[in-house]
Amino acid sequence: MQIIQCQSKDQAVSKVATILFETICDEKRNVFGLATGRTMEPVYAELVKLMKNSGKDFSNKRFFMLDEYYGLTDNHESSFKFYIKTHFQNPMGFKDDQFFFPPVHLSDAGQQYERDIRAQGGVELQLLGIGQNGHIGFNEPGSEKDSLTRRVDLTPDTIEANREQFVDDIVPVDALSMGIGTILRAKELVLLATGKSKADTIQFLVNNQENSSCPASFLKNHPRFTLVLDPEAASKIN
Ligand code: F6R
Repeated sequence: MQIIQCQSKDQAVSKVATILFETICDEKRNVFGLATGRTMEPVYAELVKLMKNSGKDFSNKRFFMLDEYYGLTDNHESSFKFYIKTHFQNPMGFKDDQFFFPPVHLSDAGQQYERDIRAQGGVELQLLGIGQNGHIGFNEPGSEKDSLTRRVDLTPDTIEANREQFVDDIVPVDALSMGIGTILRAKELVLLATGKSKADTIQFLVNNQENSSCPASFLKNHPRFTLVLDPEAASKIN
């Protein structure tokens, strides 16, 4: 695990956007895994600027979303599909067929998504955020290291943390998420954590070995795992 401690939140965001940009520009690397969440909003804003200013053609790049809620209408304002369209796909003018969304409408959704990822040759770089309870994607504490894409129940803490993102009263209680095993198959992982609400989780992640009470800890032995932190998220690391 490589830890990059930045001097400010802006610097951490910029670091992650630059890693993503440079990887996306690599002609040999065409498939990427994307995360959503509040942490990633400034990352996409910066990434869009870098990509647009480059003047390059990105039409052969493909993007897999890490997770999606159940129980929302297609393109619901609080869905991750809507999120990525708003923050990345539409600003870049990317076509729908460049994006893969967890197929929540299918009965064999998990298996189908795994097949889709394999059919595209696997994920080169997976972008990740982290929940206050150590979840990655929606792999909540107790998730297995070899788990694959599947329907997962959200914990009460996660449901509560998500509440403010919902414009109406329906706050989803389950989601389709890439598994930890799915995430670990990506060739490279980049996790961004910012803000003091993540400080305890980061402290646990850095100071403990693999432990299912903190699903992100399963990433520690991945050969190319980079953890990018702002000063607040890093504030409790010894
Ligand atoms: C989102 C995702 C989640 C978030 C995590 C942190 O696709 O998979 O794991 O990364 O819940 O969310 P924020 O950034 O809103 O604190």
